[in-house]
Amino acid sequence: MKILIACYSRTGFTEKLAERIAKELTSRGHDVKMDPIDVVNKKSCWNLLFRQIYQYPLVGLSLISSFFYNWWVKIYHQPEEDIRPHVYPDVSGFDHVCVGGPKWAYTSYPIARYLKQIKGLAHKPVSAFATFGGPPLKIFELKFIFTPMNRQIQKAGGKLVANLGLSSNFHELHLIRIFRLVSWIIFRRSLKSFTLDSDYGKQRIKTFCDKIEMENYIKSKGL
Ligand SMILES: Cc1cc2nc3c(=O)[nH]c(=O)nc-3n(C[C@H](O)[C@H](O)[C@H](O)COP(=O)(O)O)c2cc1C
Repeated sequence: MKILIACYSRTGFTEKLAERIAKELTSRGHDVKMDPIDVVNKKSCWNLLFRQIYQYPLVGLSLISSFFYNWWVKIYHQPEEDIRPHVYPDVSGFDHVCVGGPKWAYTSYPIARYLKQIKGLAHKPVSAFATFGGPPLKIFELKFIFTPMNRQIQKAGGKLVANLGLSSNFHELHLIRIFRLVSWIIFRRSLKSFTLDSDYGKQRIKTFCDKIEMENYIKSKGL
């Protein structure tokens, strides 16, 4: 299978995850190409935060009510950021596209722009991956990153077949101690045990690649 892995990473964690996915898929005999996404102007993390901080109180409401969340995720304002020209602006020559970036409350701004600009995604199987500071909380982390990404992928014509979210155990905005505490309280496990080097991380990477292969198998058999 010819697979493209497009990834934006501001502090290097999602890039490492992209490399692990590439290694796993290559070891399974696939032809993997990387497409690193970069921004035109790198802004401070505070600038990124202030661009959507006014929406944060509504994140709290979404945690309480799934009805509200389902409405909110359709109408929230997704910030975007200018990206540099990259290697594969047209992905029609690939069998599968993996897209990944950090979680910035929702989709990271460069990935939102990438998904808006990308050509050739129509009817293509797409897998999404992300890293975030916290543990893999079902709603606050996983749902808040993959529901918007799924919507943006669908808008570009693609079909989401798998997602993978791992903790980086890092937060530029100095919230990591809170996330470490949350991890112990909710999961009774350290935050480190949800990173890409953990057993959990290695297993999740394998399962993610299994799903990519399974989708291709189903497609090739016309099932
Ligand atoms: C503006 C901004 C918003 C963020 N929002 C979240 C968040 O909602 N949840 C979370 O766990 N981490 C959040 N983070 C932390 C990053 O998602 C995390 O550090 C990620 O692993 C960084 O990936 P990278 O090294 O590929 O850039 C945020 C970071 C920034 C700069």
